[in-house]
Amino acid sequence: MGHKSDIKLIVDGKRTDGRTVDQCREVTMEVNVIPAADGSAKVGFGSTVALASVYGPRELFPRFMQESDTGILRTRYNMAPFSVDDRKKPGQDRRSQEISKVMKHALEPVLFLQEFPKVTVDAFAEVIQADGSTRVTGINAVSLALVAAGIPMSHMVTAVSVGKADGELVTDLNGKEDNFGEADMGFAMVHDTGEVTLLQMDGELTLDEIKKLLDMAQTACGQILEKQKKALRDFYVKRGE
Ligand code: CDP
Repeated sequence: MGHKSDIKLIVDGKRTDGRTVDQCREVTMEVNVIPAADGSAKVGFGSTVALASVYGPRELFPRFMQESDTGILRTRYNMAPFSVDDRKKPGQDRRSQEISKVMKHALEPVLFLQEFPKVTVDAFAEVIQADGSTRVTGINAVSLALVAAGIPMSHMVTAVSVGKADGELVTDLNGKEDNFGEADMGFAMVHDTGEVTLLQMDGELTLDEIKKLLDMAQTACGQILEKQKKALRDFYVKRGE
């Protein structure tokens, strides 16, 4: 992030993958793709693809980890070794620990965990192809998987990245923009209420640019939420046939 480089990211208003500045990559969403999970989802933003699975609510062991007055959400974000060209070293590194934590904070506010003392809901996001914006892709996938698992939720959480590349404000950063752009912002919100549950920024921006990016992120989240709803509708309609 923020490396100065000669790579052109925007030429004649078009990005490296042909998009306009405020356009998301092609978004694909499918619910319940992992039969053994209580709920699951596969979400793709262009060639970034994340699989999410959710288990629970289930009793938390060992018992000393239980909270007597509330349930807990445990999250684990992981990038598969084959998700990038140069094989990623397997296992949890500092980056994936940090992302697991922000993912938990992004999703917890919509769950009624206090209704389920002593239990855990376990959510996993596995990035199987990484080309930028993997944490927000993972959040969208886990949000869908939580619904599919029937976990009581007030709303869906929707996430997107925005940032700056070649001096332009852009929506849904791809890997090149993430690596060679000037700034990158991970964002998640409850679109129905306006509550923001993730806001991370890396790089350099003016206050005015940040305000514009927040607007762009909110607009994109509105579009992404519609796709989340459609993925759920498609699943339940098909199941009912
Ligand atoms: O993926 P996200 O934008 O949420 O997080 P990041 O830490 O800003 O990573 C940006 C991108 O760098 C990822 O989406 C991957 O495409 C790439 N990356 C990688 O190639 N190898 C890693 N070990 C970590 C990230």
